[in-house]
Amino acid sequence: MATIEFLLNGTLTQCHVPPDTSILTLLRDHLGMTGTKEGCASGDCGACTVTIKSDKEPHVMSLNACITPAHQLHGQHLITVEGLAAKGELHPAQRAMVECHGSQCGFCTPGIVMSLFTLYTNQQQRPAPLTPERLEAALGGNLCRCTGYRPIRDAALGMQNSPWDTPQWFDASLSNSPSLSLPDADTNDSAFFAQPTTLGELTALRRRHPSARLVAGATDLWLENTQRLAQLSQLIDVTQVDELRHTEEATFNGQPGWWIGAGVTYSQLEPLLEAHYPAFAHLLHRLGSQQVRNRGTLGGNIANASPIGDTPPVLLALDAWVELANQDGTRQLPLCDFFLDYKKTALAVDEVVSRIFIPRLVDHAMLKVWKLSKRREDDISAVLGAFHYRVSDGVMQDVRIAFGGMAAIPKRANKAEAALAGQPITKEGFQAAQRALAEEFQPMSDVRGSQQYRQQVAANLLERLYLSLSAPTQEVMLHAYAH
Ligand code: FES
Ligand code: FES
Repeated sequence: MATIEFLLNGTLTQCHVPPDTSILTLLRDHLGMTGTKEGCASGDCGACTVTIKSDKEPHVMSLNACITPAHQLHGQHLITVEGLAAKGELHPAQRAMVECHGSQCGFCTPGIVMSLFTLYTNQQQRPAPLTPERLEAALGGNLCRCTGYRPIRDAALGMQNSPWDTPQWFDASLSNSPSLSLPDADTNDSAFFAQPTTLGELTALRRRHPSARLVAGATDLWLENTQRLAQLSQLIDVTQVDELRHTEEATFNGQPGWWIGAGVTYSQLEPLLEAHYPAFAHLLHRLGSQQVRNRGTLGGNIANASPIGDTPPVLLALDAWVELANQDGTRQLPLCDFFLDYKKTALAVDEVVSRIFIPRLVDHAMLKVWKLSKRREDDISAVLGAFHYRVSDGVMQDVRIAFGGMAAIPKRANKAEAALAGQPITKEGFQAAQRALAEEFQPMSDVRGSQQYRQQVAANLLERLYLSLSAPTQEVMLHAYAH
């Protein structure tokens, strides 16, 4: 078994643990560090929040220890709640929590303190106004059942003016740590956690171990372990593959746009989306907490092929392409040809998703993204609708509509598109699109919504689009949670 070597609150730490060990299990069960708590074990509550300080990133980053593979700590610096207080002095985040009465039963408190610590550290490095949106983004992944959020928010605001006597260990680094060893080509290891660093290594491993699971952010995969208690004994980590970590502006098939590496996280993607696709950027804040956005990747969300994944409908509406790689090379295909059936994709057994091409919005094209879920934050969609269009001389052009939660795959609404394309914006035209939608989609009923609910809200999203186009100065609220 590969040796994980990392810094834990500045102390060099080495461990041998099975491939499917989470950081939380490593801390609590193997290292006896029980300050980090387990609430949900699924990335929802934030009780297990820890902070990573990496040489590759300018800022520190919070994540959920319960769903992060321990092996991904290799070469990193992990900071836990045990590391903050020193010489009898609390960290400003801890002190502010005490002074603002931000804790009652205390179960959520270590996680909240670590989210505050991350915010505090990043503020010290790059001060920026602590707007309600920023506070919500920093603390939105931490649930507290007893205290209420006002005192915690007060602590977030109050801690900023207190200095922290930064301990020497904080800037320790492990930059020269060797990579985790790869399994031998000629042995059939029954359990391994492989961490390739190039696309060549990754595709060679994929061919050699077709049944191994690929892991990036693990925000979905790891639930198989924590919720279904499945063993994940062969894991190929794609997070260190250089080619998968870059974003590049390019022209593809005559269209300007960007190639996004499959391993680029939502947090890394956010500035690009904010600048060019604000509706898509906004969705990221409905997709998952800061901890989840720091880990989840665009490639993972696509390869996972969940019918309720949030980014695929948006990418379908944008007419995105996906690049698949194996040892022989790469091939590109439109994303709409990638999803075949429930959790079935066009990926061959020896292929991986390497990049995604997102065309730039041109000629005043618009993108609307509306997600419906029971909870506003951190919830899985019941239905997500993405709408791309251009209005030229009062006529709708380049209409692309895609839905999640309405079929076994994320899917374009081809008939509804056809009903609108080349037509003026009229109530009758949209009613025809609604009828086409009802013909085209027969969604299933499940805990997130009945078939009838899904059909109704999908039609309502079209109604919303009509109302926003016919009365553009009026804000149309279909549902408090549809943003
Ligand atoms: Fe709830 Fe990890 S224990 S997010
Ligand atoms: Fe009890 Fe937050 S203090 S859950």
